[in-house]
Amino acid sequence: MKGDTLRKPAFQEELLRTWLFLKIQRLLISKRYSRIAIVTGATSGIGEATAKKFAAAGFGVVGNGRNGTKLAALEQEIGEAFAGVEGDASEEKGLDRLFAIAEERFGREADIVVANAGRGLGGSVKDADLSQLEDVMRINVTGALALIQKAALKMVEVQQHAFPRSAADIVIVGSVVGRHISPFNAVYGATKFAVHALAEGLRREVGTKGVRVSLVEPGIVLSGFQSVAGLQR
Ligand SMILES: NC(=O)c1ccc[n+]([C@@H]2O[C@H](COP(=O)([O-])OP(=O)(O)OC[C@H]3O[C@@H](n4cnc5c(N)ncnc54)[C@H](OP(=O)(O)O)[C@@H]3O)[C@@H](O)[C@H]2O)c1
Repeated sequence: MKGDTLRKPAFQEELLRTWLFLKIQRLLISKRYSRIAIVTGATSGIGEATAKKFAAAGFGVVGNGRNGTKLAALEQEIGEAFAGVEGDASEEKGLDRLFAIAEERFGREADIVVANAGRGLGGSVKDADLSQLEDVMRINVTGALALIQKAALKMVEVQQHAFPRSAADIVIVGSVVGRHISPFNAVYGATKFAVHALAEGLRREVGTKGVRVSLVEPGIVLSGFQSVAGLQR
């Protein structure tokens, strides 16, 4: 009994020391990076280039894609500023993991989220292969919406206390065919019209709350996109 009471404070002290150590370690890691980013579709093309630019600019980056081998190669190439998280960016659980790993790995919440993962679909309204429509809608619209919704909820909460001292950005990769209708890929274009509407809506919703919403509308960028969409490079 006497031994027990003697051991208790020593145990509590040890616990406190470990807690303090972890807290300081987390603080030091979080100070190492100017911003913490999440980029979906980081295994190829625009997303890969964005992840590399961010890391070179001093950001900690959580990059996602389904290609685990490519993510491992990027971790090797970029180093500790890049954490690859394999998974489908249209799935709720996978998206939650991106936010959790940003905090775990870099010591604070992501403050820039890029909804980039997406795919094309060649063909006009008359000719498009509709057996692929569900997949295209799932990643281009449903997944992008779920990601930006999660980002917005978290960022508005943080910015209530942090704005204007800190920035928060949601970036959505749309397309020029989400603004100007192309008869050659109008079905794909329709998915981009949808995300453009979501971007405009979200900007009006959270712009005044310290969260910037940017819409990027690329034209033709040579990447993995052309082969997935069944287009010629
Ligand atoms: N290239 C163009 O000309 C062009 C023009 C306008 C807009 N865009 C848009 O730009 C964005 C990026 O395209 P890109 O040109 O860089 O094409 P890309 O080289 O084919 O890259 C697409 C990326 O999205 C990821 N992705 C696709 N489905 C996914 C899923 N279900 N879950 C997680 N990741 C997924 C792919 O990774 P995994 O295969 O590893 O999953 C890959 O990293 C897309 O939204 C596209 O619509 C491209």
